[in-house]
Amino acid sequence: MTGRLQDKVVLVTGAGSVGPGWGNGRAIAVRMVQEGAKVMALDRDQDRLEETLSRAHEVSQLNGGEIDSMTCDVTQTASIEAAVQATLKRFGRIDVLINNVGGSAAGGPVEMSEDVWDAQIDHNLKSVFMMCKHVLPVMVQQGAGSVVNISSTSGIRWTGSAQVAYAATKAAVIQLGRVVAVQYAKQGIRVNTVVPGQLHTPMVDVRLAKQRTGGDVQTLLTQRQARIPLPFMGDGQDTANAVLFLASDEARFITGTEIIVDGGMSARCD
Ligand SMILES: NC(=O)c1ccc[n+]([C@@H]2O[C@H](COP(=O)([O-])OP(=O)(O)OC[C@H]3O[C@@H](n4cnc5c(N)ncnc54)[C@H](O)[C@@H]3O)[C@@H](O)[C@H]2O)c1
Repeated sequence: MTGRLQDKVVLVTGAGSVGPGWGNGRAIAVRMVQEGAKVMALDRDQDRLEETLSRAHEVSQLNGGEIDSMTCDVTQTASIEAAVQATLKRFGRIDVLINNVGGSAAGGPVEMSEDVWDAQIDHNLKSVFMMCKHVLPVMVQQGAGSVVNISSTSGIRWTGSAQVAYAATKAAVIQLGRVVAVQYAKQGIRVNTVVPGQLHTPMVDVRLAKQRTGGDVQTLLTQRQARIPLPFMGDGQDTANAVLFLASDEARFITGTEIIVDGGMSARCD
């Protein structure tokens, strides 16, 4: 099946990645273009968008999907307002919002500084609130829209290490999604959340291995795989496929809920 998002206008936040390969935001943006969408890819860092753009251009030849990009910090009002206006000017509407920006900081309440806690709240939770604040009025005017937020299994389970602010904010993203879903259902707007587990994304190689295993990527991957019932590790493309379904009209009767993409990790308790 192709054209599952034909001509839909999609805004993706954090559409770059911390390194080369399939980070979640990059995979989501490219998958949407592959299905015929017109994607506005937002990232704080223009360099990180380059690979997203080149991969999207490769697939856009096939079905008329399009991609454009701009730098946007999704914790800053002026930056978000500019991105929303630029998207409307370029594509005329916003059918789908994907709130993908996020990332973890290590530590429990004693080890974590107050500054890091506050920064995590802004990065993982305020970013979602702010994007909803500025995009929902556009969707209300259209009488339709779909929002997909990206949480994490750390928001529903202990996943191997203390990252208290990440866990708390990712749990909050799930509940924010449910509340906004009910509030806006009558206006034709659906809100759902994808909950990825421990994937092998560029973030693992570039950032997490330094934080957890002194830069030893293989050891970290082995630790992560040991928690996953399926015998392989997913990547950003697995997140993107779940996002695609929830964003599309195939999910027209689905709102206020979550899809967990974790190879069965959260279903086990041994
Ligand atoms: N990678 C995983 O294994 C994993 C697992 C579960 C959940 N997640 C979630 O998936 C999402 C993406 O994670 P990832 O590891 O693929 O991302 P990543 O770190 O590879 O990329 C995130 C992108 O967001 C951009 N960004 C950061 N702050 C921003 C801001 N304020 N405004 C705009 N852009 C900003 C960065 O420049 C980067 O390009 C996050 O919400 C994360 O919590 C990831």
